[in-house]
Amino acid sequence: MDTQEEAFQEKMMRRALALAKRGEGRTSPNPMVGCVVVKDGRIISGGFHEHIGGFHAERNALLHCTEDPAGADLYVTLEPCCHTGRTPPCTDIIIEKQIARVFVGAMDVNPIVSGKGVRLLREAGIEVKTGLLEAECHALNEVFEHYMTAHLPFVDAKYAMTADGKIATATGDAKWISSDASLKEVHRLRKHYKGIMCGIGTVLQDDPMLNCRIESGVDPIRLICDTHLRIPMHSKLVQTASDIPTWVLAGPDIDPQKQQTLEEQGVEVLSCGLNADGHVDLNQAMKMLAEREVDGILLEGGGTLMADAFAAHLVSKVHVFIAPKIVGGENAKSPVGGQGVKKMSQAIQFERAAYRQYGPDICMTGYPVYGK
Ligand SMILES: NC(=O)c1ccc[n+]([C@@H]2O[C@H](COP(=O)([O-])OP(=O)(O)OC[C@H]3O[C@@H](n4cnc5c(N)ncnc54)[C@H](OP(=O)(O)O)[C@@H]3O)[C@@H](O)[C@H]2O)c1
Repeated sequence: MDTQEEAFQEKMMRRALALAKRGEGRTSPNPMVGCVVVKDGRIISGGFHEHIGGFHAERNALLHCTEDPAGADLYVTLEPCCHTGRTPPCTDIIIEKQIARVFVGAMDVNPIVSGKGVRLLREAGIEVKTGLLEAECHALNEVFEHYMTAHLPFVDAKYAMTADGKIATATGDAKWISSDASLKEVHRLRKHYKGIMCGIGTVLQDDPMLNCRIESGVDPIRLICDTHLRIPMHSKLVQTASDIPTWVLAGPDIDPQKQQTLEEQGVEVLSCGLNADGHVDLNQAMKMLAEREVDGILLEGGGTLMADAFAAHLVSKVHVFIAPKIVGGENAKSPVGGQGVKKMSQAIQFERAAYRQYGPDICMTGYPVYGK
C-alpha cells in the first residue's frame, strides 16, 4: 500500500478518535467510540456514541450520510458489536448499508464481541482491516477495558503536591497547591470518570464539593470512605446530595439514626466490611461499586486512603501534579501515608511515565506495576 493511502487512512481514524472523545463522561459503562464514513475520498458522515442507551457510533454515522453509503469505507475506533444490548448490533447495519471496507482501531475486549464482530463482517464479504492506530484506540478506552477484564473500577489516583512532596501544610491547609491551569485539568478528569472518591479525613479538613466545574461538565458520583459515618450534616457534600449523587461507603457498625438522616438528605449509605485496620474494606467496596456500573474512579486522597488503595493494588493510573513551591514541616502530610515499604527495592514502580506542563506545574502520569 502506498504511504499516501496509509496517511489518508490514519487521518480518517484520527477524525473518528476525535469524534469518540465527544462522548466523554456520558457513555459509561460503555466505551467511547467514533466513526467516519468515506466514499470516493470524501467524508460523507461521522458519528459517535453520544450517551449510554443511545445509538452506537456506526449507527449514528450510517443514519446521517449525505449520500448512499453503498460501497463506502467505514472507519471505527472499536470493533463493531454483533449483539443486541441496549441497542441493535452494529454489524447488521454495516452489512445492510453495503459498506465495502471497514477499518477497525481496537478489537473489543468484551468477550461477547471480541473477534466475532470482525468475523461476521468478513463472512458477509466485507473487507476488514484491523489495528489502525491501535494503541491510541485502546488508550481511549483504558477505563472500559480494565472494567471489562478485571471487573473492578479503573482507579486513577490524583494528587497535587509541592516540590518538597507535601499535600498540605502542617496545619492541614491545602488550598491551593497547584495552578489554575492544573485545576482546570483536574476538572476535566472529573468529567472523564464516573466516580470521584476521597476519605473522610479530607471531608472534615477541606469540606470539598468534588463536582465538575467546567463548561459542559458532568458531575461524577461522589464516593466517601467513612467507616463510622462521621460526615457532618452541614458539609457541602451532604447539603448538595439531592442534586449530585453522593454515596458514603461505611462500615457495618453505624448509627442507624445518622444513616436515616443522611438518606433523607439524599445521601446513599453503602455498607461494607472492614479491613485489618478497621477501615472500610476497599477490595469489597470496589467490587460493590463495579456491580453498580462504576467503571472508573478519580481517587483524590487524602494520604491515609491513598496508602490503602496502593497497598491493595487497586490503583491503575496516577496523575501527580507537582507545584514549584516548598512548604516544609515535618508534620505536613505527604500524598501516600501508612507505614510505607521498608526498602527502595520494594517501591511500586510506574511504567509508561509521561510528563506535561500546566502553567508552572508539572503533571506526571504513569501506571503502577505491582509485584515487581
Ligand atoms: N493536595 C492534594 O491533592 C490533597 C488531596 C486530598 C486531601 N488532601 C489533604 O489531605 C489531608 C487529609 O488526609 P488524611 O490522610 O487525613 O485523610 P483521608 O485519607 O482523606 O481520610 C482518611 C480517613 O478515611 C477513612 N477511611 C475509610 N476507609 C479507609 C481505608 N480503607 N483506608 C484508609 N482510610 C479509610 C478513615 O477514617 P474512618 O476509619 O473513620 O473511616 C481514615 O482516617 C487534608 O489536609 C487534605 O487537605 C490533599
